[in-house]
Amino acid sequence: MSSYQVEGAAYLRDPSIWDDYAHTEGRIHDGTTGDIACDFYHRYKEDVALAKELGISDFRFSFSWPRLVDKEGNVKEDGLLFYKALIEEIRRNGMNPIVTIYHWDLPSYLQNRGGWISRGILKDFSRYIDVICEHFAGDIDTWLTFNEPQCFICLGYTDKNHAPGIKVSYHDLLVASHHVLLAHSIAYKKLKSANPLCQVSFVNAFTPPLSAKDDPLAEEKLKEKQFALPRGTEDFYPLSLYADPLFLGHYPEGLKEKDDCSFILEGDMEAIKEARPDFMAVNIYTASYWDLDEEGELKEVPSPYSPEEEKSDLMWLNKRPKSLYYGVKRCYERYGVPIFVTENGACYKDGLTDGMIHDEKRSQFIIEYLTELDKLVKEGYPVLGYYYWSLLDNFEWSDGLSKRFGLIYVDFDGDLKRYCKDSFFTFQKIILSSKSEK
Ligand code: BG6
Repeated sequence: MSSYQVEGAAYLRDPSIWDDYAHTEGRIHDGTTGDIACDFYHRYKEDVALAKELGISDFRFSFSWPRLVDKEGNVKEDGLLFYKALIEEIRRNGMNPIVTIYHWDLPSYLQNRGGWISRGILKDFSRYIDVICEHFAGDIDTWLTFNEPQCFICLGYTDKNHAPGIKVSYHDLLVASHHVLLAHSIAYKKLKSANPLCQVSFVNAFTPPLSAKDDPLAEEKLKEKQFALPRGTEDFYPLSLYADPLFLGHYPEGLKEKDDCSFILEGDMEAIKEARPDFMAVNIYTASYWDLDEEGELKEVPSPYSPEEEKSDLMWLNKRPKSLYYGVKRCYERYGVPIFVTENGACYKDGLTDGMIHDEKRSQFIIEYLTELDKLVKEGYPVLGYYYWSLLDNFEWSDGLSKRFGLIYVDFDGDLKRYCKDSFFTFQKIILSSKSEK
């Protein structure tokens, strides 16, 4: 889960770009905000207990930068106490706290200074990391520095339903992305020196392109396509722009021919190289379908499966379980590091009947995706784990409170009461049986 999506208690944090965005008329489709969200800030004990009941070993959440550090770089006592208590509660319930350092809620004052396009942000980010190291280095074994620059840069800076909702040039998208990589390198270095035993990674999201006809010739080209650079700002959702520098130590081929790269200063690439993540973290939800045309070129085609079977409550999220198989396999073949699926999940309309939610489709979604992941494991690919997104229904960014991904239903129209959906019990059984196999 992520801070802005679940915590609420907005009055106790400084404003972030998501507060500003959600409070701008017309930005959130159902007109809601994350001011209260799931009120996790006050109900975390109940939610942690439910996570324990589910049987998961790791509890992933994010720190809110504007809840922890103010504009002057001072630690915010309330925020500090909240995250300390949360971590303690997670551990007390026998789970491992996994922290994402940046899940999109940038302090507003930094956006006013240019956000990720300004290199000056690195100084503020570095201060944020110092606070984290000072207070949490001993508490956390696994850190995820950034969640999905594909969303907060590529969608947020091309005005595609994401904060800050601005439109910048192709060049500035590259500049912002470069600063994110440098910020990761700062965090990596400081976290490792504060606790050499901790694991640090960086989360990428992507939508693997698949062959509709399972054509091996198309597969060769699709492998390349998964890592291709975008042509322009319109299709700016690249994986290799982040993963190549992080895992191979250089930008993808062709970047320098495409644009002026003078924003890469002396020493930058060395700093990024030295911050090679300890494993690869990927978020995969769906796929696109392609095949070769008469000239042997890739062409996007309709899915070979029925729309009825694939569709969810979100336009972009069709149930395409093979995305997990091919997406992970190709990443391993290119980067050669173990892979963790840090997000995968399903959004369906859920109805509450007599305190129960019969979300058969979500259970089916989970089973089919995990079957694909299991295939990879049996073929010997080093898959480190899988997190379902998400434990709770939450504030789903520009869709507000109207779209539900949770294994646990939250009554947003009533008193925020939690109800375990049928999929909660399906997932619980899967976890139990995988534990008994070990
Ligand atoms: C991921 C994010 O992109 O997908 C989550 O890390 C998000 O924060 C989830 O909730 C679902 O995506 P969306 O775009 O429908 O909100």
